Parts: sequence; C-alpha cells; structure tokens
Amino acid sequence: MAEMKRLVVLTGAGISAESGLATFRDPGGLWQRFRPQDLATPEAFARDPDLVLGWYDARRAQLAEVEPNPAHLALARLERDWPGDFLLVTQNVDDLHARAGSRRMVQMHGALKRVRCTACDARHDWQAALPRATPCPACGAARLRPDIVWFGEMPLEMPRIMAALEAADIFVAIGTSGTVYPAAGFVRMLPRHARSIEVNLEASAVADGFDELRQGPAGTLVPALVEQLLCAA
Ligand code: APR
Repeated sequence: MAEMKRLVVLTGAGISAESGLATFRDPGGLWQRFRPQDLATPEAFARDPDLVLGWYDARRAQLAEVEPNPAHLALARLERDWPGDFLLVTQNVDDLHARAGSRRMVQMHGALKRVRCTACDARHDWQAALPRATPCPACGAARLRPDIVWFGEMPLEMPRIMAALEAADIFVAIGTSGTVYPAAGFVRMLPRHARSIEVNLEASAVADGFDELRQGPAGTLVPALVEQLLCAA
C-alpha cells in the first residue's frame, strides 16, 4: 500500500457505541425508541419545537458523561502520522472525534454542540440547553435551532467530501449501516484503483461495494487497522 497516499475515513454511530452513545438502528437504538419524523425533521421542529429542542438538549448533555474510545483515538493518531492526504468524514454529531484529537474532519450531519440562527445564519458553539426563544448572540432574533442536518436537508461540505472521495486511494468506513445517503453511496464514488475496507459488527447494507469487511467491534479493530496502515505507508 506504500504508493497509496490519499486516505478517506467515514464513520457512523457504531464508532461511538463503545463510548456508550446509542446508535440509531441497532436493537435499543434511537430510531427503535423514537420516530425520526417526530424529532429529526424541519416539520417536527415547526410542529413541536420544545419536544425537538428538549431531545437535542438531552443528547447534548449526555456528551459530558462519555469519553472517546480507542477507535476515536486511533483515528486521531492516523491523521497525525499518515504521510499523505487524510480526511475524516463523520455522520456523527457527537464531539468524540474532536475530543480524541481529530482536526481534518467534516461533520456532514452537523454537531450537537453548535446552534444555527435561521434569521442571520450565524453558527455558535453551544454547550448548554437551548430553550425556545433564546436570542441569537449575533443578531438577537429568537430563531436559533440545533445545527443538525435533519432528514430532507443538505449535508454539509459535500463539495469537499466529493473531491476527497474522487481522489482517494484508500477508503475506510467504520460503524455505519450504509442505509442513509449520500454517505451510503460514498464507496461507489471512489476511483477504480482505490482499496475499500469496512469495519462493522456485521456487514452493512452496502458491504458488497467494499473490497474487505473486518467484522467486530471498532474499539478493537480500528487500532489494529491503523497500525497496519501506518506500517505499510
Ligand atoms: N463497532 C463497530 N460497528 C458497530 C458497533 C461497534 N461497537 N456497534 C454498532 N455498530 C454498527 C452497526 O452494525 C451498524 O451497522 O454501526 C452501525 C450503526 O448504524 P446506524 O445506527 O444506522 O448509524 P449510522 O449508520 O451512523 O446512521 C446514519 O442515519 O439517522 C441518521 O443522521 C443519522 O448519521 C445518522 C445516519
């Protein structure tokens, strides 16, 4: 793999599972307990803003109780020590990659610890609860919402992501079910020569698009994969 220098990593909720954050579609996952259309759509927010704000407040508060796990830390090491281009694209809205030290990262579905003003479009880092009618620190309008990409909304930084995929030599997808687009389609956007590896407890819905499946927990398999990639770089 020595000549392969451009690496793109995609992560999903499964990488944070061993940190104690619920995934969406596993048994007991968030979409087993709540209906996405009641919580993660613009219509839900318009219909019942207090319910939606309360749900994101609870998920944001939970971040104080969890820590990055060895998989997050291994990806931060990979970014630091990888000799070529590196981009981490995460679907996750938790802060565990950032707390593990990842920097060259795109949070394509937004971030729990950020809010956005729908009046002036300013984004603000946000640690606490977000009661309805909280004034925007920039323009004062009471139009703040979670800076989360809801179903039916455009993911963030897609041009940057597409450019990285089209030039990738290696693509690694970790802990994602391959059921939500556009992320589920990333593996089919790679150059023909690229090598693709999936790390998951079980084969994802797009496993047939990958060269290889490493089946097992990310907390164990990702540090080993990082070691192997760095040794071969
Ligand atoms: N190690 C590796 N993989 C794991 C682990 C683990 N410890 N635990 C769970 N997984 C895998 C599951 O097998 C599953 O394939 O993680 C995946 C989690 O899938 P989802 O719950 O569907 O999460 P994700 O793929 O990130 O969802 C994508 O859907 O609801 C939207 O915006 C939300 O970003 C989310 C998107």
